[in-house]
Amino acid sequence: MTPQTDFDLWSGTLCKTLEDFLQRHLPEASIVPRRLHEAMRFSVLDGGKRVRPLLAFAAGELAEAPLTSVTVVAASIELIHAYSLVHDDLPAMDNDTLRRGKPTCHVQFGEALALLAGDTLQSLAFQWLSEFPLHPDPRQQLLMIHQLAVASGSRGMGGGQAIDLESTDSTLPLPELEAMHLKKTGALIRAAVLLGAGCGRPLTTEEQQHLSRYANALGLAFQVVDDVLDAEMDTATLGKTAGKDAAANKPTYVSIMGLSQAKDFSRELLWTAHEALAPFGHRRRRLEELAHFIVNRRS
Ligand code: IPE
Ligand code: IPE
Ligand code: MG
Ligand code: MG
Ligand code: MG
Repeated sequence: MTPQTDFDLWSGTLCKTLEDFLQRHLPEASIVPRRLHEAMRFSVLDGGKRVRPLLAFAAGELAEAPLTSVTVVAASIELIHAYSLVHDDLPAMDNDTLRRGKPTCHVQFGEALALLAGDTLQSLAFQWLSEFPLHPDPRQQLLMIHQLAVASGSRGMGGGQAIDLESTDSTLPLPELEAMHLKKTGALIRAAVLLGAGCGRPLTTEEQQHLSRYANALGLAFQVVDDVLDAEMDTATLGKTAGKDAAANKPTYVSIMGLSQAKDFSRELLWTAHEALAPFGHRRRRLEELAHFIVNRRS
């Protein structure tokens, strides 16, 4: 067994903090409507790498934000992410049967409840962000709610998913592929970084620009690596069906650049992310470790 690194300990502790919050605040499955609450809990709890929450925690540390506020942000973003996965897996979208090593939500609960679970997870995210104190200045809290709404909406994740559907069975020029990935996956990754930092002390304009550059590079890198893993790994390791992109004829970094160039590109993006963090000195540590984790992960 490989010994636990300091990063493993840090991320393990914060994943536990996140899980406790989610366990406590997601509606109990014993509350009516029971099946819906069961489907919501099934789709969120005990699964996934929790990359977006960890990015929020890391950016919160960079801005010296209180853990209680960042936990709310981390949990809310994970709800939006879980909703996006439930809908992404529906027969009308990617038609997937396996997610996080379990049946997909619609396989377990039926399509109608999966639609509703996704919808209500999204609402719950905004309920939490407006219910718990995130920042002493209410205008800052409102700005953060706005940022997440834009990131998940038609100019962010939802819009990227629409472009993904439209471009299936066609090829995309590289700039359009990049724009699609930045929306469908990058927007939420970016929001995790910005909202995590938003709970803390104000950053200078220059610091904001650096953080933004980091978040954009990493958001794109995340989906490039997802495309690579889909082509390279097996279903058991991924916990979701491998080889789906080629089977569904999706334009991806692998289909457009080839596997080896896509990997090179992910490493270039890692370098861009790394450079963008330079001005933060020792405060960049966890964001830096997460960038490495995202680009070098095997699932
Ligand atoms: C999968 O995201 C969907 C994409 C946006 C590429 P993750 O790889 O973060 O999925 P989980 O949360 O770890 O299951
Ligand atoms: C999904 O991209 C992005 C969102 C859910 C917003 P993919 O369709 O590539 O994600 P996986 O591979 O099914 O996890
Ligand atoms: Mg998809
Ligand atoms: Mg999918
Ligand atoms: Mg994928």
